[in-house]
Amino acid sequence: MTDAPIPLARPVLGEREEELVLAVLRSGQLSLGPRVGEFERLFAARVGARCASAVSSGTSGLHLAVRAAGVAAGDEVITSPFSFVASANVAVYERARPVFADIDPVTLNLDPAAARAAVTERTTALLPVHVFGYPADMDAFESFGLPIIEDACEALGARYAGGGEVGGRRHPAVFAFYANKQITTGEGGIVCCDDAAVKERLDSERNQGRAPNMDWLDHDRLGFNYRLSDIACALGIAQLERLETLLAGRRRVAALYREAFASATLQGVELPCEERDGARRGWFVFVVQLPRGVDRDDVVRALAERAIPSKPYFPAIHLFSYYRETFGYRAGQFPVCEDVAARSIALPFFPEMTEGQVARVVAALADVLIACHASQSLSTTPSAV
Ligand SMILES: Cc1ncc(COP(=O)(O)O)c(C=O)c1O
Repeated sequence: MTDAPIPLARPVLGEREEELVLAVLRSGQLSLGPRVGEFERLFAARVGARCASAVSSGTSGLHLAVRAAGVAAGDEVITSPFSFVASANVAVYERARPVFADIDPVTLNLDPAAARAAVTERTTALLPVHVFGYPADMDAFESFGLPIIEDACEALGARYAGGGEVGGRRHPAVFAFYANKQITTGEGGIVCCDDAAVKERLDSERNQGRAPNMDWLDHDRLGFNYRLSDIACALGIAQLERLETLLAGRRRVAALYREAFASATLQGVELPCEERDGARRGWFVFVVQLPRGVDRDDVVRALAERAIPSKPYFPAIHLFSYYRETFGYRAGQFPVCEDVAARSIALPFFPEMTEGQVARVVAALADVLIACHASQSLSTTPSAV
C-alpha cells in the first residue's frame, strides 16, 4: 500500500464556513453588505487595532497602505529583498523605488542597521516584512521616525518582542488570506490601522474612490476595485472563530518538525529561529535552509520523486529580472539574503498535519541529503554536508 500524498498546504474548512457562506448566498447581498464590517470589527479586535479595512488581497492592502503613507513618484521605500515579491511591487505601483537592505541571518527579517544605512532624503517610508510570521524588530524601525507600513501578510497570531499582537501597533499593518495563510477567505486581505481618517481613505480607495456618504457612480478621488465580497468575509468570520485552534495546530506541527529533525540529526540543516525576547511567531510555513554546497533545486526534485512537495522559498527579489533591469540590482549586493534564498525550502505545513506525515517528510529529506552527500563525495573533495 502506498502512502497518501502530502499537500504543501491545506486550509481547514468545515460546517461553520458552509453555514455562513450559504447564509450570504441566500441573503442575495453578495458584496458591500453587512459581513464586511463585521469581519473588520472582529479582526481588528483580535489584533488590538482600532480599525480595519477588508480588501481583495494582501497586495491590494499593501498598495493602499503605501498610498496612505504618502509615497509618490521618485520616493524611496526601504524594504526586505527576502519576501514575497508583492511587498516590493507595491512601491513600484506608485512609481517609487523599492530600496532593499540586507536581512538578519537569524530572524531573516530586514536588518535595522542595514535599513538605517539605506535611508536618504528621498526615503518616505519603511516597509518591514514579518517574514514567515516572525515579528520584525519594530522598536528599532520606529526609532527612525519615518512612516511605517507593516507587511504582516504571513504573521497573523504573531506577537512583537516586548509584547502586543502584530497588527496592534499604530501604523498600518496588512494581513493576507490566500488559502495557505493562517486563515483564508480564498483570496483577500485586511489593513489594520489606528486612525479613523486613514480607514476612511482606505475604504474609499478600495471602492473606486467613493466616500461612504457618496452616491453610486460618484467619485471624488482615484480609486480601485479592491473590495472583499460578503461571501469572502463570511468565510473569514468562520475562520476567525477557529483561529486559536488553527494557530495551535500550526504550533504543534512546528514542534513535531523540531523533534523529528532533532532525532534525524541532519547535519547542517538550519531550522526556523527559536522565539526570543518575548516574541512569538505566527506559524505560517516551515522553511529550512539546506547545508551550503547542496543543490537546492536538486533536493526539491528528489523530494518530489518521493512524493514530498516542497518549494524554493523565497527567491531574492532584487535578483528577479524585472528588478535587475528596472532598478539595476545585481548579485552580491545583499549577501545574507542571497545565501539564505539559495538554500531555503518550504516543507509541507498545515494545521492538521499528522506526526506520521512530518516523519515521512523528514525521513525523505534525510534520505535525499545522504544521497547528495554520497554523490558529492564521489565527485568532489570535501563536502559541506
Ligand atoms: C510577505 C507577503 N507579502 C505580501 C503577500 C501578498 O498577499 P496576496 O497574495 O494576498 O496578495 C504575501 C502573500 O503570500 C506575502 O507572503
